[in-house]
Amino acid sequence: MRKTIIAGNWKMYKTIKEAIELSNGLKRELFKLDTAAIDVVLCPPFTALSEVAEVVDETGIFVGGQDLYWLEEGAFTGEVSGKMLKESGCSFVIIGHSERRQFFGEANEGVNNKLKAALSCGLTPIVCVGERLDEREAGKTFDVLKSHVTGALSGLLAEDALKIVIAYEPVWAIGTGKTATPKQAQEAHKYIRDLLHKLYNQEVASEVRIQYGGSVKPDNIAELMRQPDVDGALVGGASLKVESFSEIVKKAAEVLK
Ligand code: 13P
Repeated sequence: MRKTIIAGNWKMYKTIKEAIELSNGLKRELFKLDTAAIDVVLCPPFTALSEVAEVVDETGIFVGGQDLYWLEEGAFTGEVSGKMLKESGCSFVIIGHSERRQFFGEANEGVNNKLKAALSCGLTPIVCVGERLDEREAGKTFDVLKSHVTGALSGLLAEDALKIVIAYEPVWAIGTGKTATPKQAQEAHKYIRDLLHKLYNQEVASEVRIQYGGSVKPDNIAELMRQPDVDGALVGGASLKVESFSEIVKKAAEVLK
């Protein structure tokens, strides 16, 4: 049984003060949440991690980073290590988001290094994969997913693959208001799950959680969650407001599998 996971990627939004406000609001809205049934993860910018972690301490809500560097420390100006994220209160870390790939030149090899670094310090990686519009239109969606997944997991043993979360985020659906249809999402998720089976075994394929991301809103979450291979969502824009994010979490919790 895969536990539902809803994560909010706050991207480069929210100052420390605003982040405290948002996480306090979510804490109030979600205090009745059955944390045995659903994982909720908040991923604020680095600067607000400790404060958000303090607000949600002992609520069962998790905190995650949006990226990390793969070495523990060193002369790497601007970078943050897994150990630093852990100490700031993180349990999760987003890796290989399409914005990192698009604007910061991140590629499969770096994603793979980051994933291994995250696992080695006990962080659960949320590995993002997904095709651009031109790739979908050229019929290359599955090729891109294969390259992203195999590249990210390269050299990883089954016992470690079991610990990761994958987020399928079609780039054309991010911040565009254009959600993948539940059928398109299911098709991609099923492809990823079958690929995990080929790369590893039945256990990895059936245990790894696959979130959908791309214009998730309160009014489309339920239908997405009803797809057999959709185990949650990675939410951008709608995670920046108490009302919309808490509604997404509540609606997802209603569709438990
Ligand atoms: P939106 O929900 O704003 O489309 O962003 C999705 C995303 O990139 C989450 O990581």
